[in-house]
Amino acid sequence: GKKISKICCIGAGYVGGPTMAVIAQKCPHITVTVVDLNQARIDAWNDPDTNNIPVYEPGLDAVVAEARGRNLFFSTEVDKAIDEAEMIFISVNTPTKTYGTGKGMAADLKYIELCARQIARVAKDDKIVVEKSTLPVRTAEAVKNILQNTGNGVNYQILSNPEFLAEGTAVEDLHAPDRVLIGGDTTPEGQEALESLVEVYANWVPRERILTTNLWSSELSKLTANAFLAQRVSSINALSELCERTGADVSEVARSIGTDSRIGPKFLKSSVGFGGSCFQKDILNLVYIARSYGLKEVADYWEQVIIMNDHQKRRFATNIVKTLYNTVSGKKIAFLGWAFKKDTNDTRESAAIYVADDLLNEQAGISVYDPKVPESQVYSDLDYLETRASEKNKQLVTVVTDPYEACKDAHAIAVLTEWDEFKEYDWIKIFENMKKPAFVFDGRNLLDTNKLKDIGFKVYSIGKEA
Ligand code: NAI
Repeated sequence: GKKISKICCIGAGYVGGPTMAVIAQKCPHITVTVVDLNQARIDAWNDPDTNNIPVYEPGLDAVVAEARGRNLFFSTEVDKAIDEAEMIFISVNTPTKTYGTGKGMAADLKYIELCARQIARVAKDDKIVVEKSTLPVRTAEAVKNILQNTGNGVNYQILSNPEFLAEGTAVEDLHAPDRVLIGGDTTPEGQEALESLVEVYANWVPRERILTTNLWSSELSKLTANAFLAQRVSSINALSELCERTGADVSEVARSIGTDSRIGPKFLKSSVGFGGSCFQKDILNLVYIARSYGLKEVADYWEQVIIMNDHQKRRFATNIVKTLYNTVSGKKIAFLGWAFKKDTNDTRESAAIYVADDLLNEQAGISVYDPKVPESQVYSDLDYLETRASEKNKQLVTVVTDPYEACKDAHAIAVLTEWDEFKEYDWIKIFENMKKPAFVFDGRNLLDTNKLKDIGFKVYSIGKEA
């Protein structure tokens, strides 16, 4: 394949930022420019203090510090970056549609189409366009149609290169991926473009871990991977409810089945439910695609993963209300954690948002502490649901920067994110400052239940008889 020396990436978010930072770090001979329409985001990526970059990921600040200004650049000059690049990654958001046909299910591809049209308008020489965003199977066809009907004589090759990093371990995952997946056209030109991208990754990823497929397999594999991962969480969560009724302990069950090499131990942790910007969106998209081909059973099968997850979030909130003598009105409930998982500042689709919303409907007062999520984000997440007026959310919810303050005078603590630091708190001090009986609802099975019970807490864990 042609040797690439200039890469552009459209979209400087949770995927575009870290992936391009690592490509730049590992390929000093390639100039990587990450562009975004969002000026504030680009400014944050360019902040001289790498503690202020907009994505929190362990180790990312060091990667950015190493490459930025050398061969890694962040900019809002989209046209210029497109014009100069030989290879253009599209890493923009593909949220669930909130309007029209497919509302609440299908992926909204308007940002993808805008990128394709912008590339078509600007490009003067041949480009390799790489889909980094997660896209419905056969999107590459639409992208190709838009690019090839501009009549300016530019040749385009479209590749699919979905990203498998997990937030919270993005840098680790990018440095040593289980695999890199690249799909391309089966034509000689397609294979040549594909080889160009293989060579970029081969700078640090062993060749046998770089898988190549046709475009449609690659696109569909990303949706499939997320569906399988989320399905494991919903499967163990479905059993957690049965454990709570029968005296079985879901952690013991998970350990017992996880030692079977056919099942494997990972992703079997029961919790308040999965969150994050991807799992729900991608499964809904998969369900929508299956329905659009008339595959009712296939669609219903995968939709159940979402239904179970919604149930798990809801019953966590319901259990809090029920346990607190059927009323939380006017009671303070402390939330430890707001991010959708530990080691990220990302809150998209976090279970905490939905649990909070249910408790606010019961007129609870909520005090939130999260080590990485700012106050403004908590309010914007709640306001986004449009369940109640924004003033009401501000009135009922406080966001504090001290966990002990969050828990002071609370009737109950709900653990919503598995941040390590929660385990290290002075739980005796927390107990002394709470209303009695003092309840802990551990939505992540994070804390030492026996220790808390010895202190005097009443503890509810997922998948354990209370
Ligand atoms: P994000 O919302 O953090 O970032 C997307 C960025 O694209 C935003 O900053 C937005 O301003 C920018 N953008 C949108 N349209 C633009 C345009 N026309 N020109 C320039 N910039 C534009 O989204 P995130 O999380 O990075 O996800 C991006 C894609 O990657 C999605 O398709 C997602 O499904 C996929 N993905 C996400 C993963 C994750 O862990 N967040 C993991 C794997 C894939």
